[in-house]
Parts: sequence; structure tokens; C-alpha cells
Amino acid sequence: MWRVKPLDAILATAEKKSLHRSLGPVQLTLLGVGAIIGTGIFVLTASAAQKAGPGMMWSFVIAGAVCAVAALCYSELASMVPVSGSAYTYSYAVMGELLAWMVGWALILEYAVAASAVSVGWSGYFMGLLKDVTGITLPAALSAGPTWTMNGIVPHADFSTGLINVPAIVVALAVTALLVIGTTESARVNAILVAIKVTALTVFIAVTLPVLDTGHFSPFTPNGWFGPAGTTGMGVVGAAASIFFAYVGFDAVSTAAEETKNPQRNVPIGLIGSLALCTVFYLLVAAGAIGALGAQPVLGAGGEIVAPGSAGFNAACALPANAESLVCSNEALAHVLRSINFQVLGNALGLAANLALPSVILMMLFGQTRIFFVMARDGLLPEKLASIHPKWKTPHIVTMVTGAFVAVAAALLPVGQLADISNSGTLFAFFMVSIAVVVLRVKEPNRHRPFRTPAVWVVAPLSAVGCVFLYWNLPFDAKMVLPVWGGFGLLIYFAYGYRKSHVGRGLIETHELDRDAPPTSVPPV
Ligand code: ALA
Repeated sequence: MWRVKPLDAILATAEKKSLHRSLGPVQLTLLGVGAIIGTGIFVLTASAAQKAGPGMMWSFVIAGAVCAVAALCYSELASMVPVSGSAYTYSYAVMGELLAWMVGWALILEYAVAASAVSVGWSGYFMGLLKDVTGITLPAALSAGPTWTMNGIVPHADFSTGLINVPAIVVALAVTALLVIGTTESARVNAILVAIKVTALTVFIAVTLPVLDTGHFSPFTPNGWFGPAGTTGMGVVGAAASIFFAYVGFDAVSTAAEETKNPQRNVPIGLIGSLALCTVFYLLVAAGAIGALGAQPVLGAGGEIVAPGSAGFNAACALPANAESLVCSNEALAHVLRSINFQVLGNALGLAANLALPSVILMMLFGQTRIFFVMARDGLLPEKLASIHPKWKTPHIVTMVTGAFVAVAAALLPVGQLADISNSGTLFAFFMVSIAVVVLRVKEPNRHRPFRTPAVWVVAPLSAVGCVFLYWNLPFDAKMVLPVWGGFGLLIYFAYGYRKSHVGRGLIETHELDRDAPPTSVPPV
């Protein structure tokens, strides 16, 4: 189970594909921005405000900083191992099959659950737009999933908030259908969607900053840095652990390394550039939302601090006094604009979110299917999953299985919980990448590295510690998902992958037929 897949075999696979190197720094940065901006800023701003109040501005900075150091580690491996499978492939080469399997298994949480979270975020904006433009409201039972709480380690569903989120199912299945018939975003469509998102956020900033009321910034950290004793996932740091979701997706840039001109220079520019750009946007949007409407948390019946999504929080949001509160909105940014009497702009922003969020779902689903594809090709999952449709040339089986999983999770869970669960898997994968980069420096110091992480002995440990720190500050239930999910993963590995693994059976193939395989990195901009 510690067997590694030789790097040279992986690289031989990559060479056979020999993709055209066409991407420059601007296209890479656009690619990153396209994958990054989504439900995090458009929707989760509300729950970040509930956790941290105006102090969520610090949360954006903390989460962005952890992503920046992780991105530098990612870049080194991505430039050395520029093949599909992302952190899973890097781990297979460096730390052995078992850990690679665990990383791949955690990446399911990152990509598939993130796709569910963005689908639910899309649903919130869709419902808001539908109501504001046509006056139609879907019954709560059909537009939201139940609220989940933990009784010890047993999940308990409260169906008073909803039963099943139909719009989220529809968007998840629609995007799945597009992927099955082989739609990848064309360069032009991606550029247009990035422009729509960036314009929407720019307009939001331009409209809200002039009406900023500095009084709204105080108290700045009503829940402190770590929330009151006895709570988990609250305060500025708790909000950082959740809002980390807003930055997820930058790894799309590293997976495009093999299509990049001069990766040593351009991959880090693309990664750090897109993260920096998004951080600036996020901070200005947060400042605008806080300044224009206020972002103070609502309190429970006894004046206590309540976590977003909890029964106490839902009860507080049902009170007329809190109806206009930012923290209670499912479409935070549109709600802010409507509240300051920019009704039409609020709807336009809602429309922008509805148009642009499906592309984030598409990127996440795409990433997931390619990781499953590589794992199946390595024999760790049934090879049937990797079969390619004769006409559409897509891994249609794995795409449909993934789409069904994404739709079920989107139907039954609220966006905040999905995002937190996704974060737990992502943080694990980033942690492993931070370790892998130093292990490989020690094991193979002379191997060619098109990009070297600067000050790796500082940056990689910082990244690893940052990931553990954020993971530790997730809410208890999201934190528990990772070990439980990992336990299932171990069972499956020893029941299946351990015996079937191609490396284990001595089949270290280089996939001559890869040129017939579906594209394995995100489409170039
Ligand atoms: N960063 C992406 C989003 O916020 C996943 O939706």
C-alpha cells in the first residue's frame, strides 16, 4: 500500500498527450477568476457575517493567505507533474498508493460537494429573482432541504425548513447533461461569464461604497476571534474556515500547467494573480455590504450567539425584526442592493449570479469526473467507470454517477453545511500537497522543476499549519465528516483497490491511448 507510481511513468503519459502550450499569464489569471468567484462571495457572505460580524473582512484575508501559500506548493508539483488528477496524482508519485487514494477520496468532498454547494447557492438566487420579478414563490418544502443537527454522532433532520431543493437538483442535472454530451466551456463563453461576474461585483462595490455608514463597522468583532466558549466554527477564525470556500477553484490554474507557455513564470502569476484579484474584490464587496446594510449577527431567543443554519438561527431569522438582516438572506448581495433601493440593479445582480454560477458547477463537476477517471484508469475504482462514450467521447458513466450524487446532496443539504464539508476535504488535500512538495525535494532533489516554490522550507510548513488551523476551526459536524468519510474510503480501498491496483499488479502502463481520452484539464480561456 506504500507502492508509488513512478514519476517517469506518469510523465511518459503526459508526454504522449503533448498538449499545445498556448496559455499566457492573462489567460491563466482569467481561468482562475472564472473558477474561483461563485457561491462563496455571492451567498456565503451572509453566514460569514453571522459568524464574525464586520470582522469577516479579516476572515477573507486569513483564508486568502492560507490559499496563497498552498497555491505556491501546488504550483511546484503541478509544473513537475503536469498531468490530470491533481493532488491525487502528485501523492501517488510521492507518498504511495494508500495516501494517494485517501487524497483522491478527499477530493470527492472538494469537487463533488462543492458542485452541490454552488447548486444550492444558485437556487437561492433563482428563487429570489423569481419572486421579485414574477411574484411567484415555490413552497419552502420544494425550495430548500431540511436542517441537519448532530445528536452526538447521529445526524438528525428537521423538515420544518424544507424537504427537497428542486431548483438545485435541476441545475445540477442540467450541467451534468451538458458534460455527458461533451460540452466543455468554450474559451469565449468562459471569458464572457468571467466578465459578467466581475462586472456584477464591480457595480455592487460602486453602488454600496458611496453610501457606506462607518457606524455599521462597530462592534467590529461581535463574536470575537474564536467565538464564545462552547461554540465551534464561530468568530473571525470560524468564518475564515467557512469562507475559505470562496477561494476554492484556484487549483484549476495548476491543472492547466501543461498548456501554459513558460510555466515557471506564468503558473505562479496565474495562481497568485487570480487569488490576489479575488481577495481585493472580496474585501471591497464585504466592506460595501457591511457599510451599506450592516452585518451584525442575529441573536437567539435568550440573547445568545447562534450558528448559521441552527434551529435558534432559523427562529431568529423568522422574526419580523430580522427580516431585512443581511445574515438571514439566501442571496446576500442582491438583497443588499434591493435594501438600499436599487431594485433593478439587485435583480440584475441576481441574474448575473444565475448566469455565471453554472460555470463554476461545470468546472467542479468536470474536475471530479477527471479525478475519478484517473483513479479508475489506475485500477483503484472499477474500470467500467472510465469507459468513454463512443459518440460523445466523454467518460459518460462516471459523469452520470457523479451528477446523481451531486444532485442528491444539493437536494438535501443547506449551502453552508455543504461548503464546510467541501472545505474539510479541500484542506486535507492541500495539506497533503504541502507535505508532498517537501518530501519530493528531499527524495529527488535533482529532478527538473519547471517551477520551484520560493522559500519552500517556510512556505510549505506555513501552508500545512494553515490548513490544519482552518480545518480545526470548522463547525464540529463538518469536521467529523472527514474522518468518517476517510474511514469508508479505507474500507473500500482494502476491499477493492488494494487488490485491483494496476501498480500493485505490476501494470505500469503509459496509456498509449490517452490521445483518445477526454480532455483532462480545464478548457483554456
Ligand atoms: N470558489 C467557488 C465558489 O465560491 C467554489 O463558489
